[in-house]
Amino acid sequence: MASKLIAPSMLAADFGNLQRDTEMVNNSDADWFHIDVMDGHFVPNISYGMPVIAAIKKHAKKPLDVHLMIEKPERYIEEFAKVGADIITVHYESTVHLHRTLRQIKDVGCKAGIVLNITTPLNVLEDILPECYMILLMSINPGFGGQKFEDITYKRVKNLRKMINKQGLDTRIEIDGGVTDKNIEKLVEAGADTFVAGSHVFKNDDPTATINNLKRIANTN
Ligand code: DX5
Ligand code: ZN
Repeated sequence: MASKLIAPSMLAADFGNLQRDTEMVNNSDADWFHIDVMDGHFVPNISYGMPVIAAIKKHAKKPLDVHLMIEKPERYIEEFAKVGADIITVHYESTVHLHRTLRQIKDVGCKAGIVLNITTPLNVLEDILPECYMILLMSINPGFGGQKFEDITYKRVKNLRKMINKQGLDTRIEIDGGVTDKNIEKLVEAGADTFVAGSHVFKNDDPTATINNLKRIANTN
């Protein structure tokens, strides 16, 4: 199985010390920066947009994994690529022409992925999987950090991994929401390989050690 990646969510960073927190991630065992974009329509919350992403990019030495929680993301793909996105994921529920949107992401030189909300059936992915570098399964309702992980995710990861294997693909499965050192091992066992962690990392007294510990547990099996 592919090596397991950790993507700290900058939503939980201290925005007044963005350079410091970006450098903390640079100097940890983290693999990517997870960047949550929220528009107040697709999800109830508003987070940040292009200028903040550009500010993170200025100091980041690792890829930016940009998770778009916005309606009609196809309107902004080019701009997100311009400010430094390396991976862009869009919600299945947010765009009518998903296939076209994925092509758009690839055309601007980024890796493309689809995000599913907790209750969106996995079978909507069947025909589009070969177009995806990664599938992000939400393990909370999107919009806010610090929520409790939903256990239904384990079953969804197992079934999605089966679907990916059946098609002979090696698509990454990323999990977002409530990931901690308590559930990451079971998620790896279920078939996930990429993990977002926000509050578990940034609300800890030693964020670096917390990231390194997640990375170690995920890669132990
Ligand atoms: C929520 C975001 C998550 C969030 C995760 O909609 O997609 O990336 O930052 O935060 P935690 O790890 O605190 O659940
Ligand atoms: Zn996210």
